[in-house]
Amino acid sequence: MCGITGYIGDNKTTDILVDGLKRLEYRGYDSCGIAVVDGKNSLYLKRVSGRVDALDKLVTAEPVKGAQAGVGHTRWATHGAPSEDNAHPHTDCTGQVVVVHNGIIENYLDLKEKLQAGGHKFKSETDTEVIAHLMEEKLKSLHVQEKSARAEMIEPVFFEAFRRTVADLKGSFALSMVWSRCPAMLLAARMHSPLVVGLGKGENFIASDVSAFLKYTKRVVFLNDGEMAAVKKDGIDFYTFAGKKTAKESVTIQWDSTMAEKGGYKHFMLKEIHEQAEAVENTLRGRLLPLGGNLLETEMGLTAATMKGVSALQFIACGTAYHACLVGRVLFENFGIPAHADVASEFTDRAKLMNKGTLVVAISQSGETADTLFAVREAKAAGAKVLAITNTVGSTLTREADHVLYTHCGPEIGVASTKAFLGQLAAIYLLAGHFAAARGALSSAEARRYAEELLKIPRLIEETLEKETEIAKAAEAFAASEHFLFISRHINYPIALEGALKIKEISYVHAEGYAAGEMKHGPIAIIYKGMPLLAVAPTGRTLELMAGNIEEAKARGADVVAIVDAASKKTIKASRYIILPETGELFTPMLTVIPLQLFAYYVALAKKCDIDKPRNLAKSVTVR
Ligand code: M6R
Repeated sequence: MCGITGYIGDNKTTDILVDGLKRLEYRGYDSCGIAVVDGKNSLYLKRVSGRVDALDKLVTAEPVKGAQAGVGHTRWATHGAPSEDNAHPHTDCTGQVVVVHNGIIENYLDLKEKLQAGGHKFKSETDTEVIAHLMEEKLKSLHVQEKSARAEMIEPVFFEAFRRTVADLKGSFALSMVWSRCPAMLLAARMHSPLVVGLGKGENFIASDVSAFLKYTKRVVFLNDGEMAAVKKDGIDFYTFAGKKTAKESVTIQWDSTMAEKGGYKHFMLKEIHEQAEAVENTLRGRLLPLGGNLLETEMGLTAATMKGVSALQFIACGTAYHACLVGRVLFENFGIPAHADVASEFTDRAKLMNKGTLVVAISQSGETADTLFAVREAKAAGAKVLAITNTVGSTLTREADHVLYTHCGPEIGVASTKAFLGQLAAIYLLAGHFAAARGALSSAEARRYAEELLKIPRLIEETLEKETEIAKAAEAFAASEHFLFISRHINYPIALEGALKIKEISYVHAEGYAAGEMKHGPIAIIYKGMPLLAVAPTGRTLELMAGNIEEAKARGADVVAIVDAASKKTIKASRYIILPETGELFTPMLTVIPLQLFAYYVALAKKCDIDKPRNLAKSVTVR
């Protein structure tokens, strides 16, 4: 859950590394650093506790001339507090070997004890530093400590020492290494943590995520678990951990680096909220049966016969993606198709209940969330087939799943997920429509109406976004509150959970999402006079019940903001309303979530929080 960059070539190495780190800050941002080597075997290390901007200032104040290769890192602390000493890159005792790492080295204490017994001095509390010292040992064992070692010996020795180092590591890692005596080569390895190389002309790149170098190249190769790369400026060789050379195909990324810029918005989160109509449109495009042919089936390789044969769907995901799973469960159950939804990190024993008839639907924006990947592996081991819904081409999840349904949302940079959620919902609605049609739960006329309704959603999202000013006003009115409640029922209950998560993440206030009917069984006790309560109450089967629950809350002092449509407004009594355009009851989550995203955004703005980089969080959580 940290960001790694690597560069080798004749361009401005330090600028490229630092720029890449800025683009990867969503992966972690408590400390950062770079290490570069020049052609004279000198190594320069620059690290700061804090954000990449501070590193940028340092590098500008003390520029390194002649750097021709290097690595960079932005950290989300696991072992050791955020500090300059614990910031990557880490060095060995000689100061010649430098490593950046993402993941957790599970056997680091064993390794550290042995290395310390052998005289190694550690400078940080991190697990990563053992890698540098281990490398120092391996290099020693290959007898190249003398400066006189011949140049042609250096590259194979660097590679072999690296291979042996990697072989001793247990746990998860994406790592990249520089050795000042071998400035013509960077080495990288991957196990359970994403790593990708970018292919340039006379220059090459390494990163945890393509967004770090998209500005320079769109041609990339994704490393698989158990693979290493030897990266030189004119070429890259790939190997297994056993040292066997392996051929790899490159892919071309369609995203443009400008797609990841703020485009005039104050924050990525706000820009991404405004991109939701497009995200849904792109995800639906050409994939809707019966309107658009059977593209979806061809893409995923999920035939009508397979869809008929599935005994139950099991959704798994984390965070916001889990809330999409909960919507999916209600939607499939509505069509009479058994479905379950679980948080991936709590899937452990349920995984054993999976079988050939289960279709596991794993949802992940990044496709790299460790908990989700682990759950997928467990489900597969139990015999289930896995369908991945993800936004990230080439991610680990896509390579491990049997079927893949991409959302086409473009890069999501804000740590708080917004447009990726809408893309996930759109994909779920597509899938549910296909399943329901294949299993006869929707007649062809009904399937057509369902598709037509879904196709209207992007326009209705645009209409919903027009309510931004009113939503901002409501948010400002409550911004000083330290507690927020969100309630709803049925298919919008997950939206209440999502509303609470959004505000917690970016405003650091206490918020709870509840099934409205559950309030009277305990949580209603926390309501005090003036407590903000956001009630999601569009027209639908639970409207009357919602109206009752809202009255109960008001009677205890709650100040209610109701998310309604023109028809449901007549039934709901609240102090403020956000009135949404009408759509079919089942489709409402794709609209009702938008005011809650904007509400959270404007509360955080009023509180002057760091909206795109909230404290303690990282965009992609690649540790369990
Ligand atoms: O990349 P993923 O969709 O697997 O990420 C899952 C969660 O970590 C993510 O949705 C997280 O909850 C967001 N920060 C929520 O805004």
